[in-house]
Amino acid sequence: MANTATIEIDGNKYEFPVVKGSENEVAIDISKLRANTNGVITVDPGFKNTGSCESGITFLDGEKGILRYRGYAIEDLADKVDFLEVAYLLIFGELPTKEQNDKFHDDIKAESAVDEDIKKILDAFPKAAHPMGVISSLTSALTAFNPSSVDVDSEADMYKSVVRILGKMPVLVAWTMRKKQGQPLDYGDNSLGYVENILKMMFSRPNSCYVQNPVLVDALDKLLILHADHEQNCSTSTVRIVGSSHAGLFASLSAGISALWGPLHGGANQAVLEMLQAIQEDGGDTKKYMAKAKDKSDPFRLMGFGHRVYKNFDPRAKIIKKAADQVLHDLGINDPILEIAKGLEKEALEDPYFVDRKLYPNVDFYSGIIYRAMGIPTEMFTVMFAIGRLPGWIAQWREMRLRKEPIGRPRQVYIGATERKFVPVEER
Ligand code: CMC
Repeated sequence: MANTATIEIDGNKYEFPVVKGSENEVAIDISKLRANTNGVITVDPGFKNTGSCESGITFLDGEKGILRYRGYAIEDLADKVDFLEVAYLLIFGELPTKEQNDKFHDDIKAESAVDEDIKKILDAFPKAAHPMGVISSLTSALTAFNPSSVDVDSEADMYKSVVRILGKMPVLVAWTMRKKQGQPLDYGDNSLGYVENILKMMFSRPNSCYVQNPVLVDALDKLLILHADHEQNCSTSTVRIVGSSHAGLFASLSAGISALWGPLHGGANQAVLEMLQAIQEDGGDTKKYMAKAKDKSDPFRLMGFGHRVYKNFDPRAKIIKKAADQVLHDLGINDPILEIAKGLEKEALEDPYFVDRKLYPNVDFYSGIIYRAMGIPTEMFTVMFAIGRLPGWIAQWREMRLRKEPIGRPRQVYIGATERKFVPVEER
């Protein structure tokens, strides 16, 4: 592969360096394009061909179905370590020693209290508010309660903000869910592991002792690991671009949560379950919905299918499918929704429309089935994704700040009106 790429414009040739990633990914560095060509830029809607940064956090190969965090295969991580170790790995670059892990967890626990006044903000939301909107708002509100976490430049200040948000986010999530259910808002139990504590905070009842179910702890741990990072996706790019203006970590995360909410991104897990329920209520005719998904005049898409990057299979979906089977088996649940999901998957994998477009089940096709089995309300599914993605967003935000990346500010090709004469209101 040549070291330079040549672009010819109006008979003039311009050379640009070709850069290679550590996994031999090739990119043309066009950072000097506009300056050297007197104003020429590139256009790439949806950034399908654009690398927005150099990053050392997550590698994925969509053709081969490979996903690695900091060089470690997702299959190994999901099997051998827990969510907090993965969080540490993503954020700081190495798997923690036992001491580092204990300290990390202790520091997170020490920051897990949330100002009681946050409850007043929560109170102001109508009961019907979508939890993603609530969580995004509360995360943003945390900046007001923790002003020292806004303008963080040193590694020490960043660390403080990181453990703060990792400690407080599960409380915000549990409170948001419990508020909707009319349950008392309290804090978890700092003697528990991170994931056990999340489950207890969500599901404990005031009049009974919460008993942990190791099957659920393990399944949630896996789900959070699988969602922990996915390089420059929509919400992560949002976090990086908001953070590039030196907005604080919490404000950047709040924006990321809003980006994740959309049904084409994290909101797909809620959309998948609602789709499966709708098919069930409509008599369970999967063929009818397959036809709708293929009909270009029908806006319906098979939720949980397709991925911007994975054009072979989503390695996370493979792990999750197994976990879903395990959870349903261990809990003795016979969920008819799962049968519909399996039916749709089988038909789609054999259908030329899906095969030709390389549309395979993605991570969210099965995650909702596990969340449902755990008793998590459908509207909370994307919030669970957000807890999982938190370390990834933090790692990417931290990397962006430490590399002193410039403010994100894309260009455009203007297609509006050219200069016009102003017309006073009486003459319009
Ligand atoms: N059902 C039916 N047709 C589809 C689907 C689908 N789920 N996904 C893509 N297509 C078709 C699309 O209509 C297009 O067809 P044609 O070439 O004839 O115009 C072709 O496949 C390529 O689709 P695209 O929209 O150009 O692909 P994209 O890379 O821009 O979009 C996607 C990727 C994930 C937004 C899309 O596949 C989709 O909308 N899927 C359903 C939503 C979903 O499950 N999202 C979760 C993604 S995984 C979790 C996460 O990372 O956030």
